Amino acid sequence: MFSVTCVAPVNIALIKYWGKRHEELILPVNDSISMTLSTDELCAKTTVTASESFERNRMWLNGEEVPFEEGSRLQRCLKEVHRLAVASGSQKVPPTWKLHIASVNNFPTAAGLASSAAGYACLVYSLSRLYDIPLSEELTTVARQGSGSACRSLYGGFVQWHRGALDDGSDSVARQIAPSDHWPNMHVLILVVNDARKKTASTRGMQQAVKTSQLIKHRVDQVVPDRITRLREAIASHDFQAFAEITMKDSNQFHAVALDTYPPCVYMNDVSHRIVSFVHDYNDRMGSYHAAYTFDAGPNACLYVLAEHVPHLLSAILKVFPNDLADGDTYLRGLPIPKVQDAESSKLDSLDVHAKNAFRYIIHTKVGEGPRELRADNSLLINGLPLE
Ligand code: DP6
Repeated sequence: MFSVTCVAPVNIALIKYWGKRHEELILPVNDSISMTLSTDELCAKTTVTASESFERNRMWLNGEEVPFEEGSRLQRCLKEVHRLAVASGSQKVPPTWKLHIASVNNFPTAAGLASSAAGYACLVYSLSRLYDIPLSEELTTVARQGSGSACRSLYGGFVQWHRGALDDGSDSVARQIAPSDHWPNMHVLILVVNDARKKTASTRGMQQAVKTSQLIKHRVDQVVPDRITRLREAIASHDFQAFAEITMKDSNQFHAVALDTYPPCVYMNDVSHRIVSFVHDYNDRMGSYHAAYTFDAGPNACLYVLAEHVPHLLSAILKVFPNDLADGDTYLRGLPIPKVQDAESSKLDSLDVHAKNAFRYIIHTKVGEGPRELRADNSLLINGLPLE
C-alpha cells in the first residue's frame, strides 16, 4: 500500500478566465492571470491511497462519497496522470492498483470560494507525488482538465494560464510569473457576503456566454491581450496603482459579459455593488488606490491591499458595513489585524453606513506558495524534498 497527503492553495483571478474554445479539454478563449493565496488560511487537503486489495476507485469529498464515473473530469485526470507516469518511466506504484481518494477543504463551501480549483490542483498534485512524476507544465494541462482554473493553483505567487493555440491543448499551460516572495506584502481581505440565491455554475455560465454574448468577442480580441501585458509589468515593478486599476476593470468587464449573456447571469448582488462603490469612495479619499476589488462567479468580494494598509481599510469596512458579529471571535478570520491609531482614522469620519450585517465574516490572508506534500509527521515536503 502507498499513501500520500498534500495541500493545495486557492487562487483568485486578477484577469478572469471566462469561456472555453474546447469543452472537454477545457481550453480557454483567453489568457488569465491569478494570485495564489496562502494555504495557512485556505486550502484543499487530499490523501490518495493505492492498494493491491482495493476493488475499485473511490472518492470522498468533505466526507461524502462522490461518483467516480467513466468519462468524468475526475476519471480524465487520473488517466492523464497514468499516461505521464508511463511516459516518465515511473514504476513506484503499479497503475493497475485502485485508489481511494479523500479530499477536504478547510474553508466552508458557504464561503463560495474557488473550491474546485484548489480541489483539482490538490488531486492532480497528490497523484503526481504518488506516481513520482515531477511538477511540470504538462502536469498543469492535467489539472486544467479537472477544472480550468485549477491549473493556476499548481504554482504559488502570480500565475498566468496561457490560452495556447494548438487543438490538442498541449500549449494551454500555466506558468509562474513571479513567486510568492516577489510581493510578500500583497494581502487580501475576503468579504463573505450573506446570500442564498442559486446561481448559474461557472461551467454553464461561460458556455452560454460564448454562445450568446457579443461583448465576450470584443473582450477576448481587443481587451485581454493588452491587459495581460500591462498586469505582468505591474506585478514585475510592484506597481500597485496599475495592478489595482487593471484588476477592478477586469472584474467589472467579466460581470458585464455575464450580464450580456442571454439569458443573463447575475453573480454580484446589491451588497457586492455597495462594496464596489465603497472601494472607489475609499480610494478617492486616500488620494490613490489603496484597495482593489475582484468578484468571481458569486457575490463575495476579494480586496487586494498592501499589508501596511490593511488595518486602516478594515476600520473603514467596519464603519461602512457594521456587523453585530464584529465583536465575536469568528467574524475576523485568518491573519491578525492590528488596530488603527486614532490620528489615522480621521479620514474615515465622514464615511456613511452602506449596509448592516451584510457579511458572514471576513478572512484576512496573503499571497502564498503552491501545493506541497505533508509527511506522516506533518512536516512539509516541496517537490518531494523535505523542507529544512
Ligand atoms: C470566474 O475553473 O470553475 O472563477 O473550467 O468549467 O471548471 P471550469 O470553470 P472554473 O471557472 C472559474 C471562473 C472564474 C474566473 C477565474 O478563476 O479565472
